[in-house]
Amino acid sequence: MKKLIITIDGPAASGKEKIAKYISKKWKLNHLDSGILYRRLALIFLIENIDFKSIHKIKNKLKEIRQISFRNSKKIRTQVISKLASKIAVHNCVRNFVNKFQYNFVNKNKKMRGFVIDGRDIGSVVFKKADLKLYIDVNPEIRAKRRYKQLIDSGEKSIYPKILRDIKLRDKQDKLRKHSPLIIPKGSHIINNNGRFKDTVNQINILLDKI
Ligand code: CDP
Repeated sequence: MKKLIITIDGPAASGKEKIAKYISKKWKLNHLDSGILYRRLALIFLIENIDFKSIHKIKNKLKEIRQISFRNSKKIRTQVISKLASKIAVHNCVRNFVNKFQYNFVNKNKKMRGFVIDGRDIGSVVFKKADLKLYIDVNPEIRAKRRYKQLIDSGEKSIYPKILRDIKLRDKQDKLRKHSPLIIPKGSHIINNNGRFKDTVNQINILLDKI
C-alpha cells in the first residue's frame, strides 16, 4: 500500500509541531520533526567544538555520524541550539545529510501507514510529491509571544524582545539562504495559525477530508 505523506512547512515557532501532532494522532501517521535532526547535529557540533563555518570540518564530522535520533529533549530546545541549528542548516552538505536520513527513515519503515513531516523545505524539496502540503503562516510577534511562554514554562530564562529579534533573524537566515530556503511550496495550502487552535484545526480538517 502506498504510504500517505503530509508535509508541514513554516517559519520558526509557527506551531508546526502542534499541528503535526494533531494530524498524526487523528490519521495514525508517524510524526517526523526534521528540525530535531538539525538541532541534534547542532548539539554535536557544539559539544565537540566543531567550527561550523568550516565546510571541511563539518564534512569530516558528518562522515563519522552513523545515526541521529528523532527524539526530542529539553537540551535541544534552548535558544543557543535554535540559533546554531539555523546557522548549520545553510550548508548544502548538512541538508543533504539530513534529507538522506529522512528518505531512508521513511522508506525503511514499510509497516507505517504514512508520515506527517514538518520543517522548512519538506514540501518544496524533500517530499515534493506529498499527498497534502501545508504552509503555516503566523505573524512574528505572535510567534515570539508563544515561544517566550514555551521557554518560560520549560524553566529557561527568556526576554520577549530578544526572542522576537532571534525569531526575525532566523526567518531571515531561513528565507534568504541559497540552498533550500523557506518558501511556500508549490501546491501547498496556507494555514492561518494566528488565532485559536480550534480555528486552525477547522482549516486543516477540511483539507484532510478531501485526501
Ligand atoms: O521549532 P522551530 O520552528 O523553532 O525550529 P525547528 O523546526 O526545530 O528548526 C530549527 C532550525 O533548523 C530552523 O531555524 C532551520 O534553520 C533549520 N531547519 C531547516 O533548515 N530545514 C528543516 N527542514 C527543518 C529545520
